[in-house]
Amino acid sequence: MTAVLVVGGGGREHAMCHSLARSDRVERILVAPGNAGTAGEERCENVAVGVGDVAGLVALAERESVDLVAVGPEAPLAAGLADALEAVGIPAFGPGAAGARLEASKAYCKTFLDALGIPTGSSVTFHEAAPALAYLDRLPSVPVIKASGLAGGKGVVVAETRDEAAAAIRAMLADGRFGDAGREVVVEERLRGVEVSVLAFCDGADFAVMPAAQDHKRLLDGDAGPNTGGMGAFVPSPVATGELLDGVGDRFIRPTLEALGEAGTPYRGVIYFGLMLTAAGPKVLEINCRLGDPETQAVLPLLEGDLFEIMAACATGSLGGLSVEWSRSACTTVVMASAGYPTAPARPAPITGLDQAAAEGCVVFHAGTDRTGGVTLATGGRVLAVTALGSTLENATERAYAGVEAISFEGAHYRRDIGRPSPGAATGAAPLPKAAGR
Ligand code: AMP
Ligand code: GLY
Repeated sequence: MTAVLVVGGGGREHAMCHSLARSDRVERILVAPGNAGTAGEERCENVAVGVGDVAGLVALAERESVDLVAVGPEAPLAAGLADALEAVGIPAFGPGAAGARLEASKAYCKTFLDALGIPTGSSVTFHEAAPALAYLDRLPSVPVIKASGLAGGKGVVVAETRDEAAAAIRAMLADGRFGDAGREVVVEERLRGVEVSVLAFCDGADFAVMPAAQDHKRLLDGDAGPNTGGMGAFVPSPVATGELLDGVGDRFIRPTLEALGEAGTPYRGVIYFGLMLTAAGPKVLEINCRLGDPETQAVLPLLEGDLFEIMAACATGSLGGLSVEWSRSACTTVVMASAGYPTAPARPAPITGLDQAAAEGCVVFHAGTDRTGGVTLATGGRVLAVTALGSTLENATERAYAGVEAISFEGAHYRRDIGRPSPGAATGAAPLPKAAGR
């Protein structure tokens, strides 16, 4: 009997479970800790082990003799979950701590990219406020301030003014906001352009690039308000042409995997390049060591192959023998969040309309949900990702919004412009520079 353990409890993990449940080869899916949506998927059962409990997750995988552990979030990967699983002979979909460091330390990531000549904004890393503030004064334009460590997607301040940038530096380096994650700070050139997320399955040497996604990071329509984990996403990105993706594969992903392989730490799982398509070509904003959330909710529904087979091939170094196929349709996912997201928690509130959304042809992935007494409750943060396929992006987006409109819960907030590429998209982007790096 083939059993998989999925680690995580968000919309991304629900989408992983939904795809894995469609594999003929998977008989049992355990999800730690999961949510109300994963509990309702065929062959899935939630297990109350938290994503921070590395020893508990390894013990669960051993006790249940799982064949594969598919890890959703970055924190357990950075804490060495994949290494600990490898040590007991259980294949893991997700890199070891050495690979995850590309996400867990932005300072290391910048050094890594610069060493390989992969284009990224120029930056300097600081450990004390005074020299960082002095550097800020000398810069010709306002930079982006980044807590180097993992800060749950909240450690990046895209400042509009010098005062705001200075306040972010002080908050991180003098006042200890973000704790350890903010003890090292990257002061980075602000890049302008259209943002795309390019993700690839990797098996340590070979890789398969997924259709590119665009994520809407800001809380409010028209890209206003604070950055969030992501308020919606769509695939494919109209600006990420096949040529661009081939270039990113050859010039960004391949050298990254080669460098990690040569260091004796082959990278297995998903590598996620957050790119800014600038007038000077694509530049790296960040590398993540995992599937994106909510990109996954819009990418996986387009996968035509068997997700289990692909994940197992990544974990065991045999991806090269597989052909990973994607539908040519489009997919849009709209996040419905609780009032107060991303700062304040919300009171649990019953959700209605989930069946009507399904009748509209949507798949509703759960994140902040719970089920008690037969009622599905919104428990705060990003609650649902309402997802629909369509023959065109417009079509997929229209369907997703029909689902969103059928659903309600107290304080529900969602953007009304998901799936509508930002105005910058119309300007297109310059191609990859011809001879940068290797
Ligand atoms: P990161 O976690 O580094 O990707 O940052 C989160 C978000 O902040 C990104 O998705 C961008 O929207 C924005 N961001 C990060 N770095 C920059 C940059 N150098 N220039 C402009 N925006 C940025
Ligand atoms: N959607 C952005 C991320 O997953 O990091």
